[in-house]
Amino acid sequence: MAYRIAIVGATGNVGRAIAQSLAERAFPVERLTPLASSRSTGAEVSFGDTVLKVQDAATYDFSKEDLVFFCANARDAEKIIPRILSTSKAYVIDKSSAYRMEPNVPLVVPEVNAQTLCLATKKRLVASPNCVAIPLALTLAPLQSLGTIEKVIVSTYQSVSGAGKEAMDELYLQTKATFVAEHIPPQAFSKPIAFNVIPQIDSFEQDGFTGEELKIIMELKKMLSPQIQITPTCVRVPVFVGHCAALNVTFDKKVSPQEARAIFKSAPSISLLDSADKELFATPLDVAGEDTAFVSRLRQNPRTPHDLTFWVACDNLRKGSALNAVQIAETLVTQKHLQ
Ligand SMILES: NC(=O)c1ccc[n+]([C@@H]2O[C@H](COP(=O)([O-])OP(=O)(O)OC[C@H]3O[C@@H](n4cnc5c(N)ncnc54)[C@H](OP(=O)(O)O)[C@@H]3O)[C@@H](O)[C@H]2O)c1
Repeated sequence: MAYRIAIVGATGNVGRAIAQSLAERAFPVERLTPLASSRSTGAEVSFGDTVLKVQDAATYDFSKEDLVFFCANARDAEKIIPRILSTSKAYVIDKSSAYRMEPNVPLVVPEVNAQTLCLATKKRLVASPNCVAIPLALTLAPLQSLGTIEKVIVSTYQSVSGAGKEAMDELYLQTKATFVAEHIPPQAFSKPIAFNVIPQIDSFEQDGFTGEELKIIMELKKMLSPQIQITPTCVRVPVFVGHCAALNVTFDKKVSPQEARAIFKSAPSISLLDSADKELFATPLDVAGEDTAFVSRLRQNPRTPHDLTFWVACDNLRKGSALNAVQIAETLVTQKHLQ
C-alpha cells in the first residue's frame, strides 16, 4: 500500500525536511504534492531524486489525499485544516501549535505516547509537539520509571531555524553586515540575533512567561503528567540548527545518575554521551543532521539527592519536527489507522 500525500508549507524549513525524511525512510508514497502560499507557486522542492513543483494550498483540492502534513503557521492551520478534514478522508499531521491542546487531538511523540493515536480516529487530526517539547518529552518519559517527577527547571538554547526560514536569513545577513559595519534592523526577533542571545521566544504572556515557555509547560503536562511543575526559560541563540536544553529534574525520592544512565542507554531515540570521559558532550553542530536526542553532562549535586542535572541537544528540524511527524505517519500505518 502506498499513500497520496500533500505537504502544506513545503517550501519552509519543516516542510522541506519532511520531504527529505519521507524519502530517506522510504515511506510508501504513491505521489507527493508540495503546497505553499500563492507566493511560491511554481517553486521547486526536492523529493529523493525528483524535483516537484509547488502548488497553491488555498485553491488545492484535498479530496484525493490520504495524508497531509501541515507545516505552515497556526493561524493558517485554523483556516486550512478544517477544510482538509471536511473535504477529504485524509489524516492530518499538524506541525503548528493550533490544535495541540485540544483534548480530543492526540499530541504525539511516538516513543512516548504512541498509544494515544487511537484518539485520532474520529477527527483524523494528530498534533506534533513543539520543537523543544519533543526532546524534553523523549528524555523525561523514560526517567519516570525512576520515580515521580515533581519539578523540572529548564533553560533552552534554541537555534534560529526554529523560527523559520526568514529568521535564518536574518542571522546570516546580520552576521555578514557586522563585518562591514552595516546595520540590519531585527524583524524576526525583538533584538539583533547576530553575536547576541535573546531571552524571549514568542510574545510575552501571563506572569512574564513567553508563548514558547507556556507551550513547553502545557505540552509536557499533556504528554507526561498534569502534576509535573515545569519552569522554563527559553533563549534564542545565534546558531542555525540544533536546540539545546539544560535541565534540573526533581523526583519524589532519591535517584542516582547510574540508574539514569542505565535508563537512557536503553531508551529509544536517545544517544547517551556519558562515560568515563567527562568531557564528552553534544553541541548543536554535533547533532545537526542526527535523528536522536543527545543526553550528556548527566550529574547530581550530592546535597540534592532527589535531583538530576543534564544537557540535551537535538536537531530541531529532524527529531524536533519533521522526523517526529514522519514517525507519527509510520505509526498510523503500523497501528492500521491509515489504510
Ligand atoms: N522550525 C522548527 O524547528 C519547527 C519545529 C516544530 C514546529 N514548527 C512549526 O512548523 C510550522 C512551520 O515552521 P517552519 O520553521 O517550516 O516555517 P517557515 O520556514 O517559515 O515555512 C513556512 C511555510 O509555510 C508556508 N505558508 C505560509 N503562509 C501560507 C499559507 N497561507 N498557506 C499555505 N502555506 C503557507 C510558507 O510558504 P511560502 O514559501 O509560500 O511563504 C512556507 O512553506 C510552524 O507552525 C512552526 O511553528 C517548526
